[in-house]
Amino acid sequence: MDASVMNGKDGMAGAVAGVRNVMNPILLAKAVMEHTDFVFLHGNGAEELARAQQLTFCDDQYFFDDFRYQQWQEVKGSDTTKLDHSSEKKFGTVGAVAKDIEGNLAAATSTGGMTNKRYACIGDTPIIGAGTFANNNTCAVSCTGHGEYFIRSVVAYDIHCLMEYKGLSLKEACQLVVNDKLVKTGGEGGLIAVDSNGTPQLVFNSEGMYRGYYCYDEQPVTEIYR
Ligand code: GLY
Repeated sequence: MDASVMNGKDGMAGAVAGVRNVMNPILLAKAVMEHTDFVFLHGNGAEELARAQQLTFCDDQYFFDDFRYQQWQEVKGSDTTKLDHSSEKKFGTVGAVAKDIEGNLAAATSTGGMTNKRYACIGDTPIIGAGTFANNNTCAVSCTGHGEYFIRSVVAYDIHCLMEYKGLSLKEACQLVVNDKLVKTGGEGGLIAVDSNGTPQLVFNSEGMYRGYYCYDEQPVTEIYR
């Protein structure tokens, strides 16, 4: 499992990759951010920090999901990978972005990765700038999709840069990156983002993306397809 978190106020970030049996990898990413001088830990070293921070560990059975297992059986041994969005049921990448009452932005993303990805392959989720990015002056972004494309396009940071250097709105930046630049490279997926005004964007070029947002004093909104 991979996870990352970034704080838009001070640019601090934490990430973990290739961890096993940690119940909440996102809490481990937060522990990297808050309790070490480093940004990115992987494997045994990350799990060592989880034990030191007394995070909860679960056995393999806790993480077993029959739907995912059956999906893997279909593509096992082939070069085919499946995204979270490749099915009606979704048990995969989870992202969150938020603006708090003091105007601070933050983003977090956690995943078990694409089904049938190569052993030890790390996707975009734990890579700050690719799957996750936050800066109080612009936006907080959390991505989901075919990680290789999101890494090569540095998607989350690209959204930030288009706002900071080119003056685009979050909506314009998201449309350009997700529905133009990523599509041209063949990158399937989407992202959730919020700007410094608290306006959310939930954009995707896949068939659907399980998503929701909530603004203070308004009804929560949840959607799946376009
Ligand atoms: N976006 C998740 C992955 O590529 O593994």
